[in-house]
Amino acid sequence: MAKRDLISIEDLSRAEVELLLDTAESFLPVLERDIKKVPTLRGRTIINLFWEASTRTSSSFDLAAKRLSADTLALKASGSAVEKGETLKDTAITLSAYSPDIIVMRHPSAGACQILSANTEASVVNAGDGKHQHPTQCLLDLFSMRQNLGRELDGLRVFIIGDILHSRVARSNIWGLLKLGAAVTIGGPATLVPREFERLGVRVCHSLREAVADADVVNLLRIQHERQKTSFFPSTGEYAGIFGLNRETLPWCKPEAMIMHPGPINRGVELESELADGPRSVILEQVTNGLAVRMAVLHLVAGCLP
Ligand code: CP
Repeated sequence: MAKRDLISIEDLSRAEVELLLDTAESFLPVLERDIKKVPTLRGRTIINLFWEASTRTSSSFDLAAKRLSADTLALKASGSAVEKGETLKDTAITLSAYSPDIIVMRHPSAGACQILSANTEASVVNAGDGKHQHPTQCLLDLFSMRQNLGRELDGLRVFIIGDILHSRVARSNIWGLLKLGAAVTIGGPATLVPREFERLGVRVCHSLREAVADADVVNLLRIQHERQKTSFFPSTGEYAGIFGLNRETLPWCKPEAMIMHPGPINRGVELESELADGPRSVILEQVTNGLAVRMAVLHLVAGCLP
């Protein structure tokens, strides 16, 4: 059987996305049981390579593999032979000598997962590569929206605001949302919002007030200073004043609008603490759902789904 990767959300059909969301839903009850484990991937080996910082994605992939009874091995760039200059190709060939079934990788460079995949027989799952893609974040966001709405996402209005230019979450979510029939608006400082997305049918709106007025979901993104080589706006204070969601700007939103954020949050910049922890925020649900969604993804690439 040919190996199955998950590198970009663009590679999935709508039916495949829906199958993954349904499978994730079936795993949620497992996570609430006393014994939070199923034997699905017993005897399989999953390697988690995190060459870039992560809390949510790395912990949930590790837990997801363990909940599915797989054997796991976790490596970070720090302390590995990467520090001695070993290439990604050599890392892939070396780790493949253990015959892993799945390699999950986060990497600071866009396209790294394709290089990994070309040099291993293992299935490769992208846990975020540079500013390219973060497909499992997209899936958990779609899952969280569907869960809160209690219906499919057709016609849902989603406003994604922040550092779109450097965001793999924005790129994945735009593709995923459009695939499921949602309407997407993006916004933020003009320097951080590429107009190329308009070609996909995405609306660009730089006015927070105007964009949130009809949004069912406000998905806030962090300013990714680690990917910026120059200054894209004068100061974080000014960013917060113009684009931040806070107690003053919240009344511009629809009363039922969901507040989402992939994390980590720059509290007080894109989102005020009171709102991040408030009743309209689904941020912690996103974290919980991330575990079920990553179980579904591991299940899929391991060949346990059609
Ligand atoms: N959302 C997300 O990818 O978070 P981490 O960087 O903590 O994994």
